[in-house]
Amino acid sequence: MTNAARPQGSNETVNLGFVYLISSVAAIGGLLFGYDTGVIAGAIVFMEKKFALDPTMVGWTVSCALLGSIIGTFSAGPLSDWFGRKKILLLSAVLFSVSALATAIPNDISTFVVARMVTGIAIGIASMLSPLYIAELAPSSIRGRLVTLYQLAIVTGFFVVYFANLFITTMGDAAWGIDFGWRWMFATSVVPSLLFLGALMIVPESPRWLLQKGQRDTALETLTKVGGAAHAQAEAKEIDASLNEENENKGSILQLFEPGFRVALLIGVVLAVLQQVTGINAIMYYAPRIFESMGNGTDTAMMSTVWVGTVNLLFTFVALWLIDKVGRKALLLWGASGMAICLFGVGYAFQQNMTEGPWVLLCILGFVASFAASMGPVVWVLLSEIFPTRIRGRAMSIATMVLWFATLFVSQTFPMMLEAFGPTATFWCYMTMSVVTVVFVQTMVPETKGKSLEEIENLWTTKGAYDAEGVSKAVPLSS
Ligand code: BGC
Repeated sequence: MTNAARPQGSNETVNLGFVYLISSVAAIGGLLFGYDTGVIAGAIVFMEKKFALDPTMVGWTVSCALLGSIIGTFSAGPLSDWFGRKKILLLSAVLFSVSALATAIPNDISTFVVARMVTGIAIGIASMLSPLYIAELAPSSIRGRLVTLYQLAIVTGFFVVYFANLFITTMGDAAWGIDFGWRWMFATSVVPSLLFLGALMIVPESPRWLLQKGQRDTALETLTKVGGAAHAQAEAKEIDASLNEENENKGSILQLFEPGFRVALLIGVVLAVLQQVTGINAIMYYAPRIFESMGNGTDTAMMSTVWVGTVNLLFTFVALWLIDKVGRKALLLWGASGMAICLFGVGYAFQQNMTEGPWVLLCILGFVASFAASMGPVVWVLLSEIFPTRIRGRAMSIATMVLWFATLFVSQTFPMMLEAFGPTATFWCYMTMSVVTVVFVQTMVPETKGKSLEEIENLWTTKGAYDAEGVSKAVPLSS
């Protein structure tokens, strides 16, 4: 097997072995993100009984990690600008490993919450820095593919942990699960955490960061390893240019609200909120609890959750296959419509007491499939492409932060809403937000398929200069 390859249509020669190595950082980072957020779905079923939690405390036990993630996301940027991407990623791997064990041993819920918030911080850091590290190191010809790999890794993490939860549940009876099962669920995440730590030990620092800190020789050394000497010189020149541009634009937060850009910011932030308030994580974090509340045994509830993880993974492939064919907008419109119909079905099945048949599970799987084939990946792709270069970094962190807050809100309020309003009203509430999504996407979101980042940027530059099809009225675009 050769370890160098020339990507199609490119004159860059890429050192494949090296690229696989750095890709493993993105892959394991994403996997941990999914694994460690998804683990709570199985654990909460037992913890609720162990610690006699009321609905507010169930919400807090599930969502406290997300508060940690907000802190992690917020501090990862400045910390990694100061100490380097690699060192802060290493810190997150250590936090992942330590908190895997620390969440497995507590005998009271407050100690657990503190430990789980540390896991949350690690998730926040990894969710921000793994893709950033990859984007800064990967040759441009394969950058897109590597970022996609990261998305797939997150849903794979959910898929794997749902299996692990099922396996652990079947290891003992209910009493064992309540005393020990949930502890094993958290403890198992030490395996991917240590793998992450190991992979990070052998990868280099980001050349972009090195150049920013004036360590040119080390940066060139790494870039040469990626794609040879000519690639290294060309990349370094490009990075210098973009660093200069960033320096020129520093401090101008008001730029985000300039007439052209604020439409992009509004669209990004609203899409981030809608991705969450349509209820995906009510399912991803609470599925076994929902299935148990319908009268299923814990084993069956965990098995149905494995179906949720499987459908989520399979339909993410559907999105990846369709996103450049039918476009972002069409996928969002079809997906959000499907979500609305399935959420109606979930609420209706509960209203008619049809919880014994397969209907609730089928409608939930339909909802997850519609989300995974549309809003799941498409919102992230849009967030990475709708912002003009000058504001991309800042705008993306604002949108990502808002997304985390919305996740926190939904996972905290879901058990409380179930208690206060019952399942029908709760799922119909998410259904209403799916209908809002269809209207918002139809009227506000331009199609970006097949457009270069520069063409997308042109959409915003003249006030009101785009229509819903993404065709600029001021600057004609070739697609
Ligand atoms: C969302 C997460 C969600 C995941 C489920 C992602 O796109 O941002 O909040 O848990 O999809 O697969």
